[in-house]
Amino acid sequence: MAETTLDLRALPKAQAYAELLPHVDLVLEGIDDPIAAMATMSCLLHHAFGHLWTGFYRVVDNELVVGPFAGRPACIRIPFGQGVCGVAAQSGATQLVADVHAFPGHIACDPVSRSELVVPVKREGAVVAVIDIDSPVIARFDAEDAEGIQAVARLLADRIFNS
Ligand code: SME
Repeated sequence: MAETTLDLRALPKAQAYAELLPHVDLVLEGIDDPIAAMATMSCLLHHAFGHLWTGFYRVVDNELVVGPFAGRPACIRIPFGQGVCGVAAQSGATQLVADVHAFPGHIACDPVSRSELVVPVKREGAVVAVIDIDSPVIARFDAEDAEGIQAVARLLADRIFNS
C-alpha cells in the first residue's frame, strides 16, 4: 500500500491539490472495501490539510449516517434536506459555506466550526455519501477546494462505489 501521510498545509492550493490527487489515486488502488477507503481518505485529507473535521456521511435508508471521519465525535444521523450535509445529499450539489452561522438549518456538531465544504459522492448519478470538511476559520474554503474535493469524490466513486 502507498504511504498515506501527506502534509500539504504549507503549499499554495493549486499545488496542494495537484499533489493530492495522484496520491489519492495511488492509495485507493490498494483498497477494495468502501469503509476502508472512506476511513483512509478521512485520515489522509485530515492530516494533509489540518482542518477541524474531515469525514463522510453515508446515505442509508434515505437519511445520512455518519461514516468514517477524523476529528471530534459528530452528529450520528442527519435527515435529507437538513443542515449543510443534508442539503448536499438531497440536491446532489456541492455546498460551499463561508459562514455556517448564516446557513439556514446548519447543524452545529462542533460550535468551533465556522465554515464548511460538503461534496456529494455519486454513483450512477445517485448520491451514496457526502464528504464533509469543517474549519474553525471563516471562509476557509473556496472554489478551488470545492473542485479539488470533487475530484477526490470522483476518484472514490470510480474506484469504490462502482459495482
Ligand atoms: N455541520 C453539518 C453537520 C455535520 S458536522 O459538521 C460534522 C451540517 O450542517 O450538516
